[in-house]
Amino acid sequence: MLQMTFLSRLLLRLREVVATVRSVLRFRPIELDSVERRLRTAADVADLRRLAKRRLPAGVFDYIDGGAEDEITLAGNVEAFRRRRFRPRVLRGVSSIDPSTTLLGRRLPIPLALAPTGFNRIADPDGELAVARAAARAHLPYALSTLSTRSIEEVAAVSEGPKWFQVYVWKDRGLVEEMVERAAAAGYEALVLTADTAMTGRRERDVRRGFTLPPKLGLDTIVDGIFHPAWTWDFVRAEPIQFANVAGRSGADGSDAMSVAEYIDSQFDPSLSWEDVRWLRSIWSGPVIVKGIQTVEDALLAADAGAEAIALSNHGGRQLDLAPTPLHLVSPVAAAVGGRVEIICDGGVRRGRDVVKAVALGATACTVGRAYLYGLGAGGERGVDWVLDLFDAGIRRTMALLGAGCVADLTPDLVEADAP
Ligand SMILES: Cc1cc2nc3c(=O)[nH]c(=O)nc-3n(C[C@H](O)[C@H](O)[C@H](O)COP(=O)(O)O)c2cc1C
Repeated sequence: MLQMTFLSRLLLRLREVVATVRSVLRFRPIELDSVERRLRTAADVADLRRLAKRRLPAGVFDYIDGGAEDEITLAGNVEAFRRRRFRPRVLRGVSSIDPSTTLLGRRLPIPLALAPTGFNRIADPDGELAVARAAARAHLPYALSTLSTRSIEEVAAVSEGPKWFQVYVWKDRGLVEEMVERAAAAGYEALVLTADTAMTGRRERDVRRGFTLPPKLGLDTIVDGIFHPAWTWDFVRAEPIQFANVAGRSGADGSDAMSVAEYIDSQFDPSLSWEDVRWLRSIWSGPVIVKGIQTVEDALLAADAGAEAIALSNHGGRQLDLAPTPLHLVSPVAAAVGGRVEIICDGGVRRGRDVVKAVALGATACTVGRAYLYGLGAGGERGVDWVLDLFDAGIRRTMALLGAGCVADLTPDLVEADAP
């Protein structure tokens, strides 16, 4: 009898233990899709960067991730956003958040656009097509680089979203004129003239690795490829990579492997001047954005030359090392131009909160380069979607926590003063 009672008590206790354990055990369903599995482990852009580093050959990752010389400007771009604190206001009733804004006459869901980056197919076989489709899904402008590996027309065919075309000025002006006409015919809305590339910056990671575009096959690349089988398999199955906008132009289409510096320095015109901004204005009827503005003086000259917008940018730290930090330029440039041109802050933007900060200080919007390239490298098109969703959520959350219900509420007093 005594034994029975003891046994039934033990059973009861065991049942309770099992019930408690079951109530706290939560197994995630097993994810069979490797890209989803990878993306599920990420919480921020830094995680995607780590995933991209693992997935891409070292030379490819360094081409994307690296900057000029000591990479002081590259690090400074990101650091500036991390250092500058907010001054949140509370009890402001933020039950609805509207982060939409107007840039170059177009309504955007958030103050963000995708900066032009060349040679995307080294990160993913779909390259620029994947990025353009993701941008269109998010209703955000996508700037196609002159040095893209998918053409103006191929990108237009897959994206009905807002598109800009970025112009590098070739020595052969006829080639530029032709590309501008093609962009107009394909429905691109704005031109981005990149003004900071009279010569290529010295990207020393590429120098050390002897990195070329397209990647040249040497013993080191083969070994690197063996350690990154998924990337290598994609790369060898896809058609050869070339600069799609100048395909078939001998010496200009990138079909001969050469260093980025050799290519740019042989093709681009270092005599580019403010006269060329006026020339571009004369052959293009839509808005012009001058990208690479790094001083108040040049911001004013861009406004005088008839640009509708400027991108405060040091090319993501890839050109002149020790160039000024875009975030630090926002307030003085906004004060000087007084609304004559729209201001885009470009460089070091890794989170929604960075966008909110730049807008509060006076930018109309931000652009991102590496953030979406890490997404592309980590998870292809879905990786880019993931990054754009992260920005959307981050912008909304930061605005709520700052007590700002809409973009007009984002004012400079929400950011602490900072001596650069
Ligand atoms: C891999 C890579 C390629 C780039 N290619 C171009 C380009 O073709 N044209 C251009 O104007 N800017 C180019 N940029 C600069 C970006 O447009 C942008 O200014 C920069 O990425 C912003 O900094 P972030 O990467 O910190 O966002 C490139 C940047 C990277 C990282």
